[in-house]
Amino acid sequence: MKQKRAWKGCLWAFVAAVTAVASACTTDAPEGPKKDASAPETAAPRPSQPEGWDRDIALASAKDENDADDVVEVSLRASITNVSLGDGTTLPLWTYNGLVPGPVVRARQGQTLRVHLENALPEATTIHHHGVRVPNAMDGTEMVQTAVPPGGTFTYSFSLPDEGTYWYHPHVHSSAQVGYGLYGPLVVDAKEPDGLPESLPIVLSDLSVDEQGKLADGAADGAFGDFFGREGKYVLTNGKVMPRVIMRKGLAQRWRIVNASRARYFALAFPELVVHRLGGDGGRMSAPEPIRSYLLVPGERLDLFVVATGNPGTETSVMRQSYDRFGTESGSGGTPLFRVAVSDDAPVPAESPPAKLATIETLSVEGKTPRMIELSEVPKGNPTAFGIDGKTGADIGVFHAKAGTRERWIVENATNMDHPFHLHGFFFQVLAMNGVPRTTREWKDTVNLRPHDRVEFIADFDRRPGMWMFHCHILDHTDHGMMAMLHVE
Ligand code: C2O
Ligand code: CU
Repeated sequence: MKQKRAWKGCLWAFVAAVTAVASACTTDAPEGPKKDASAPETAAPRPSQPEGWDRDIALASAKDENDADDVVEVSLRASITNVSLGDGTTLPLWTYNGLVPGPVVRARQGQTLRVHLENALPEATTIHHHGVRVPNAMDGTEMVQTAVPPGGTFTYSFSLPDEGTYWYHPHVHSSAQVGYGLYGPLVVDAKEPDGLPESLPIVLSDLSVDEQGKLADGAADGAFGDFFGREGKYVLTNGKVMPRVIMRKGLAQRWRIVNASRARYFALAFPELVVHRLGGDGGRMSAPEPIRSYLLVPGERLDLFVVATGNPGTETSVMRQSYDRFGTESGSGGTPLFRVAVSDDAPVPAESPPAKLATIETLSVEGKTPRMIELSEVPKGNPTAFGIDGKTGADIGVFHAKAGTRERWIVENATNMDHPFHLHGFFFQVLAMNGVPRTTREWKDTVNLRPHDRVEFIADFDRRPGMWMFHCHILDHTDHGMMAMLHVE
């Protein structure tokens, strides 16, 4: 990976020399650059990022233990480990390989991913690879496997049919386990070179700490915590408080952002940055979309093409604006989330993303009656519980869908609070939100519904039968009944 970057840097230096534009070539370039057989002869060279640009912010990568070209094999050991948040705070967190977030698992579309989970935690756990079209038995829910007991192991193995930004997390007692630190990014690069910069995975999350400065109990605040969803006091970017990325003015970076928090919404804003959204959950959209802000909800991902506009030597921050999940207007003010420094390197002409990103099939389900789903408040307990179609947890019957079919769904939020709706195992295309058609086509697995929103989408139930599920991704809601089973047969 590193060599490839250096090689690209050198190519640019060569081109730059020819065109008499000053540029530096890194010295650790391999002599005979190994050419990726699939790389087109005309791959546009790109100057290298500033020296040490991602040193402060980048996550460690999981080691690929398999030499075969078509397999990526990694080990994830879940254990409680003391972790520093970079601001002097050290907490005993629940980690994968001693890290929060867990290491970046990176693979290419079409490869097989094998993940060896070892459970050194005091309770049972599993891994759900959120968004990946896995075979049902690999979904990591307790519907399809027995949770891995303390001291136990389990190997997840599946192929990666789609490029995109995914993430992994437990699907047992998930509000607590994710809340304590168990999550990590899974990046699946496109099979063919996409001409975009190599991506920087960025995981946003938060952690709860009690008055004594200890990791807060997952059930703190009782029924009110279950109702509101627990937001942690430490807001983290790649496990740190306010880390820094360095950019060169004009030169694009690609950020793959994951919201891995158990309940917190991130209303992101990007001052002094020109940002195009390339896609999100299930890979690239058909065309890039310029954005100034974006509401990234729990479970959802964002794939961005980012260019700094500030002059060399200046600094800006990606901001999170206030957002309240009860339908009241928000978006004012802002708190810095992570820092963006503009290096002293000479600016390059501002890059822009390709006009066309991907070909996305238009799905049609003409004439079919849509399936109606209601996200409901269920008058049970105080405050009320959340559920689906007026019921909660085990009271919700099993839904049935036919493998190999496409269905139109209309999901309506009948509550006074936002809920991020997530469907396991299959992608959908959002057709309309509150009757307003979506113009950009893309594959999603998580979509937010504000109070009384009504979203219409087409789900593509390809032939992977089994017991799947859909739920609200505020994990306090998931664990308290806002979750249903979907039998695809
Ligand atoms: Cu992120 Cu049921 O999953
Ligand atoms: Cu919810």
